Amino acid sequence: MTVSAVLTPLDAPPLHVERAGGAPRLLAGPRLDSGAETLVEHRQRLGRRPIGGEWLLDVIERSGLRGHGGAWFPTHRKWRGVSRLALERGPSVVVVNASEGEPLSAKDKLLAEKRPHLLIDGALIAAEAVGADDVVIYVSRPARRATRALRQAVGERRRDGVKEPRIRIVHTQHRYVAGESSAVVRRVNGGQAKPSFSPPHPSERGVLGRPTLVQNAETIAHVALIARHGDAWFRERGTAAAPGTGLVTLAGNIARPGVYEVDLGSSLLSVVAAAGGVLSAPAGLLIGGYFGTWLGSERGAAATLCPEHVSLGCGIIGVLGNDGCGVGESARIVSYLARESAGQCGPCVFGLRAVAEAMSRLAAGDADRGDLTRIHRWSDQIVGRGACNHPDGAVNNLRTALDTFAADVERHVSGHACAGLGATPLPAPPRSPFGWR
Ligand SMILES: Cc1cc2nc3c(=O)[nH]c(=O)nc-3n(C[C@H](O)[C@H](O)[C@H](O)COP(=O)(O)O)c2cc1C
Ligand code: SF4
Repeated sequence: MTVSAVLTPLDAPPLHVERAGGAPRLLAGPRLDSGAETLVEHRQRLGRRPIGGEWLLDVIERSGLRGHGGAWFPTHRKWRGVSRLALERGPSVVVVNASEGEPLSAKDKLLAEKRPHLLIDGALIAAEAVGADDVVIYVSRPARRATRALRQAVGERRRDGVKEPRIRIVHTQHRYVAGESSAVVRRVNGGQAKPSFSPPHPSERGVLGRPTLVQNAETIAHVALIARHGDAWFRERGTAAAPGTGLVTLAGNIARPGVYEVDLGSSLLSVVAAAGGVLSAPAGLLIGGYFGTWLGSERGAAATLCPEHVSLGCGIIGVLGNDGCGVGESARIVSYLARESAGQCGPCVFGLRAVAEAMSRLAAGDADRGDLTRIHRWSDQIVGRGACNHPDGAVNNLRTALDTFAADVERHVSGHACAGLGATPLPAPPRSPFGWR
């Protein structure tokens, strides 16, 4: 397994950078505590990019690459759909989703900031493979260093004189739902980054009504390497079910929190150990981020980083210290997600808000058994009813917290409030400076 970088979430300066053993792929290259890799350095290391085309669809399929933005959807299936529609209806659009609204995640900003040419190569190669003539990189506005690095990289390529499709950088508000694919399309089309009611899916009718491939930044960076080295090379790492490497962000009660490149299929314990181990026996682990799954220590010890085994979301491992309370953390997260919804559908406007209020009462020791029953009932009613998966993700966090921290739930129902968030709560998101206007 490879330890590649340690970086704080959002756009804060790096706390600590280290490299030890193994061979990073996405994070190979110049030291990560220096600036962005330049075009000259990138080409010295990897050579010029191959030209994408239909040939790549089979390579991507054989590689087993899946999306690293949350759902782990097989990449080749989306590519085939967009490419078929592009042949029927005219050029498609590629959008690299580097918005990374998940508060615990730092990997996509890290890639944009340190390896912008890998993202640009991947985006152009993908565009050639799916018949796109418009390439957009979608970044959160507060991610200033990432934006600067991308702008600089686009400028370097323009000055280099190689004829490549124009790359647009589109900014979005830093909101949790801004990275959902239909919200991405809406924003790129000039509107607000709120999900729209689908179908049609963006891959059928997206930017300017054209078939649009919305792909996570990390997925696109893998494409840049697979196109160069092939599917067999990609499968040399990871497992048959989960090939390749992946970027994970470790956060919370851990010695060296940050972004790590790991072989997929690694045991959770080995990844935590590579980050220096936990600072005290964990109360629980949150895998996959705010939409993710809580595991107790026992299940955590048996878990592997394989999407078939545990839902990895966008690759988060959050470690809650034993002085923290999973019920309190989940109440805080669900309240945040309720506030962050786009406020367009009943399950978010009424359901999530009601569940969040009841969870906050539970954490405060002010809820009774009736409230608990209602939390379960409302959760059942919310799932599958939103225009996007936002409410479902929030309910997943909540349900797995109630299950994993069942003993704490009992204590809270008996009138005990959380002792506080403990000395090492999971990092909380900054208050968004924006509202929906
Ligand atoms: C509420 C919500 C927020 C999302 N935020 C992001 C995000 O910040 N970045 C991202 O790449 N995908 C995000 N997604 C997933 C996207 O909808 C989409 O599936 C993804 O960008 C596709 O890329 P991939 O196939 O490479 O994973 C989000 C999904 C939901 C439901
Ligand atoms: S489900 Fe929630 S976040 Fe998704 S579109 Fe509806 S209101 Fe917005």
